[in-house]
Amino acid sequence: MTERAQGPARQEEFAGRMLRLLNDACLGHLCSLGHRAGLFDVMAGLPPATSARIAEAAGLDERYVREWLGGMTVGGIVEYAPEDGGYRLPPAHAAVLTRDAGPDNMAAFTQYLAMMGEVEDEVLAAFRAGGGVPYSSYPHFQDLQAEETARVYDSSLVDTIVPLVPGLTERLRDGIDALDIGTGQGHAVNLLARAFPRSRFVGMDISEAGIGEACAEAARWELDNARFEVADTAELTGSYDLITAFDVIHDLARPARTLTAVANGLRADGVFLMGDIAASSDLSENVGHPLGPTLYALSVFYCMTVSLAEGGAGLGTVWGRQTALRMLREAGFDEVGTREVPGDILNVYYVARKGR
Ligand SMILES: C[S@@+](CC[C@H](N)C(=O)[O-])C[C@H]1O[C@@H](n2cnc3c(N)ncnc32)[C@H](O)[C@@H]1O
Repeated sequence: MTERAQGPARQEEFAGRMLRLLNDACLGHLCSLGHRAGLFDVMAGLPPATSARIAEAAGLDERYVREWLGGMTVGGIVEYAPEDGGYRLPPAHAAVLTRDAGPDNMAAFTQYLAMMGEVEDEVLAAFRAGGGVPYSSYPHFQDLQAEETARVYDSSLVDTIVPLVPGLTERLRDGIDALDIGTGQGHAVNLLARAFPRSRFVGMDISEAGIGEACAEAARWELDNARFEVADTAELTGSYDLITAFDVIHDLARPARTLTAVANGLRADGVFLMGDIAASSDLSENVGHPLGPTLYALSVFYCMTVSLAEGGAGLGTVWGRQTALRMLREAGFDEVGTREVPGDILNVYYVARKGR
């Protein structure tokens, strides 16, 4: 059948897809609210309950909770029994929606939707005039990012991610100098400093708010082997045995210069551990990526755009393996391998050395 003959059926099918898209996008916003208001956590701990009981347990206004429950019910996230007005969050759904779910909590991730909405006008202006959107337009980013990545670091940084580099756990136990660039709120650094008290850690970020939170956590945990600096990674100085960058390089205005500074900042047997987005640099290979549209959306609404705001490279979230490997080699890393954590569809870890 020709494409013209297929037309009406194809159009109807696609309209159906767009309808599902609209409903799912709206459900995403309701999930974000449910996460922030603690509703999923409360419902997971309750038997089937009325909206009044749920609102009371969550300390929220019943009218809002009832309307939210309506959306959750028609969206298939919550079950509703009209006989007694009971709402129930099935355990299988709670397992991917609650704070107890840790890294499996997908409701937390939906908070990025609201962040994208906050900057849509500025992003649209950049589509028309070029340039980008500055960090100052994202007042909630540091908190959101820290919440998102803390769930991963808490569950796997020390026991799963560090061991991706052979011998690194032992070296950290013995005592080495480590630097984390683009550390955000520094939770990764503080976790490592607590786990490896003989090593010395520095966290670096341009965000004063991020570094403020990092210092506060280090003080709460009484760490004397973690310190933090407000600084541009492209200008990093000092020498280290380990440099890490988690979800940072593709956001930078000057990624190539930063990678060269990292290579120059490593001691002879030093290692660079770079966690970044698991994707291809070839668009056609990203079709079917389980997070494909999310990654390109995050790029347009944040990663590419904050870099372009500084007149930067604008690599984008989906710069991909091939570009990352090329840039690491160009920066002076002769040995580069990639590692993945089973079950983590978002990240790939590059282990890079200057050669021995
Ligand atoms: C996506 S966040 C990742 C934060 C943290 N590594 C994590 O995993 O949660 C990227 C971080 O890079 C920081 N950043 C961007 N440009 C920078 C630069 N030139 N120098 C230092 N940090 C920078 C941002 O402020 C932000 O905290």
